[in-house]
Formats: sequence, structure tokens, C-alpha cells
Amino acid sequence: MDKVDLFPRPQLFDFHGVSMTHYFTDNWENIQNFQARPDDILIATYPKAGTTWVSYILDLLYFDQTSPDRQTSIPIYSRVPLLEAAVPSLKSGPSPRRIHKGTDLVDNSLTSPRLIRTHLPVQFLPKSFLEQNCRIVYVARNGKDSVVSYFHFERMTMIQPEPGDWSSYLQRFMEGKMVFGSWYDHVSGWWEKKQTYSNLHYIFYEDLLEDTGREINKLCCFLGLNASAEEIDRLAGKVQFDNMKQDKMVNHSTFQGMDFRISSFIRKGKVGDWRNHFTVAQSEEFDEDYKKKMKNPTLKFRTEI
Ligand code: A3P
Repeated sequence: MDKVDLFPRPQLFDFHGVSMTHYFTDNWENIQNFQARPDDILIATYPKAGTTWVSYILDLLYFDQTSPDRQTSIPIYSRVPLLEAAVPSLKSGPSPRRIHKGTDLVDNSLTSPRLIRTHLPVQFLPKSFLEQNCRIVYVARNGKDSVVSYFHFERMTMIQPEPGDWSSYLQRFMEGKMVFGSWYDHVSGWWEKKQTYSNLHYIFYEDLLEDTGREINKLCCFLGLNASAEEIDRLAGKVQFDNMKQDKMVNHSTFQGMDFRISSFIRKGKVGDWRNHFTVAQSEEFDEDYKKKMKNPTLKFRTEI
């Protein structure tokens, strides 16, 4: 049986004003009641912002020295679980399906700290993260490269809706009708949160690509970690695009709901790949629309570096 048959693609629906699919809402009560611990670290992103990259950096920072086997035996999506996921396991056969729940994975995690991922918009964040004053790392990526990356991801990922053709996909992105809702609201909502919640470190994909060592250094300051310049250099080398693309434990090749014949998960890793997809007219329309939606002048994205 083909992956496509085993993973029927989900439909988008409106969930409290945000487009979602059932894979991320089926476990809603447990998500909202999730009990965070004060030392939990949350990596929050709109999809395709470099979530896996930052998850891997944090996992290495905390566990590379103490449990090196972790890097070679557990895929990154299990080391740093997606809190809201409720995704069927392919191994269990077509039916009944075993459901992997992000909340269970986190609850069963034995590490300290626990590293947790989420794509939830800020208004859906389980309260306990804020009550426990957890550290939150938000990663943001410019809208044009995000939509391109998301398009290719949805082409190859069976647990996402069918993306359709590029130009209608781009329109849908501008309308905010994507899984996890509007990119514009997501990056702006978390940016606003940073103004009132001081334990939030907001980083940009473009900055991370420009100077990975510098951004790891800033992350260490935020996390209260001491790392020597040599350690940071070593880590920056380890998490480079080409290394991650080859590494089965981070490139998602072990994740069964993806079809790598269509595209890769660690795909291009560039700033400005949007130029290979947007026509001049699409870029102008996007820029016009962007100005209307993104009113906060303090939140600035780079579409080139
Ligand atoms: P592209 O599709 O543009 O290549 P996420 O983990 O949030 O799903 O993000 C995936 C995007 O991050 C993909 O973008 C992927 O290639 C990119 N990425 C992952 N690791 C990277 C790295 N080490 N350097 C640069 N980009 C990376």
C-alpha cells in the first residue's frame, strides 16, 4: 500500500479563527491542560522557519556531551516533540491506527530540561508555559521564503493538505488559510508577546544563516549556558546545512508520512529562494499586501542577505 493511501491528506477547517487540520487539534484538551515545568524550553515557530535547525542546536547544547548516543539513535522529531501533534503511526498498519501524541512524548521524556516544539499561534499557547515562566525561543523567517518552503513541504508531506498549484497556494498564504493560520498574525503575535514576556528570545532564520556562531552565542546567553568559542564553532559546523541534509536522524528520512521522491525535508536552506518561484507580478502583489498587513515597524524581515 502506498503512503498516500495510508495517510489520507487532511482538510483545513476553521478552529477558533485559525485554519488547522485535525492532526493538530484532535488532542486539544490535553494540549491546553499541558503542565509545563519551569525548566522546560519551548521552541515556537510558524512552520518552515528553521524549527528543526534550532531544535538540533538546542539538543546538542544540552545533551551532546552527556548523551552522545541520543544524536545517533533518536530522530530529532522525537527528541524535541511537537506538542500539538496527534499523528497516526504507519507501522501499526491501516487500522486501528496507533496515534502518536506530542503531549505523551513530552510527558514520557526523561531529560532535563525537556525540549518541546510548537507551531501554535501565541493565543493558543498552553497557559502553563507562561505561568511557569519557561524559556521560549521563537524562530521567524521572512514570508516569501516561508511560503516557498511550505509549498514544497506540503507537496511531499502526506499529513498536510494537498497544496495545489503554486499561484493559488501563494494566494491562500496571503489570505492566511494555511495550517497554523496566517504567517502574518503568527510572527506578529509572538513579537508582541516578547514585549511583555521577558523570557522569550526571538531569532530570525536569516540571522542564523548569516552567522550561525553569533546566533548560537546569543542563544547561550539567553539560556544561561557557558560554551567556549571552540565549542560554539564546533557546534556551528555540525549544524551546517550539508551536514544536516546527510544526517538520517535530522533529515526526516525516517518519518514515514513523507515522500522524498517529491522533495526533501532539508531542501535548499537559502535566503532568497523565493526568487526562483515568484513572478515579478506576484512579488509586487505580495509586497503591496504585506504593507497593509504588517503595521509594526519594529518587526523587520530580510528577504536577502
Ligand atoms: P527550505 O525548504 O527553504 O530549504 P522547519 O524545520 O521549520 O520545517 O524548516 C525547514 C526549512 O529549514 C527548510 O527550508 C530547510 O531546508 C531549512 N533548514 C533546515 N536545516 C537548515 C540548516 N542547517 N541551514 C539552513 N537551512 C536549514
